Amino acid sequence: VFGAELLVNREKKMTELDLYRKSIEQCTKCALSQTRKHFVFGDGSPDADILFVGEAPGAVEDETGIPFVGRAGKLLDKALHHIGLDRDSIFITNVLKCRPPGNRDPLPDEIALCEPYLHRQIELLNPRVIVALGRIAARTLLRLPSDTSLTSMRKQSFEYHGVPLCVFYHPAAILRNAGREGEYFQDFEKLKETYLKD
Ligand code: URA
Repeated sequence: VFGAELLVNREKKMTELDLYRKSIEQCTKCALSQTRKHFVFGDGSPDADILFVGEAPGAVEDETGIPFVGRAGKLLDKALHHIGLDRDSIFITNVLKCRPPGNRDPLPDEIALCEPYLHRQIELLNPRVIVALGRIAARTLLRLPSDTSLTSMRKQSFEYHGVPLCVFYHPAAILRNAGREGEYFQDFEKLKETYLKD
């Protein structure tokens, strides 16, 4: 009975998320809707324990409609595999659902218009832990001032409405600075030890 209940729950969440996606994927609230190829909602398992939140789709994500499938995504996959996870055991999305031209930083107005989608996704997914990838995701979810450094955030524990929130380097930052790859993998190991024991 327990297993059947879990399945029903999973189906329910999947349907709710899917309906939510359909209700927002034609969004035209900001100018990025005019240049995007795809609205990138998110990907993964609706009953995932861990939710990863990145910054915004890049070129490959815009092309495919799937988050983190370019070079940064490959590095993220490697780190997930390192702790025995894959895309089907997590959920992943971004602060912005549409690509900023030339991958520039998201503008404050774009974040303000788009972030309600992220908050609703978190409500529907109800994860056990949230991982903010990089400073944009961390600052948006934690409502921290725009000059808060990632280094200071990485060392602290946070909560998002009662859900533990960890701040990791963005995988694109590791691609730019390979010397940090060891630290990056250690963050994933710690995540596993802390939240994935059972
Ligand atoms: N970088 C992000 O922050 N998100 C993606 O989906 C791809 C690259």
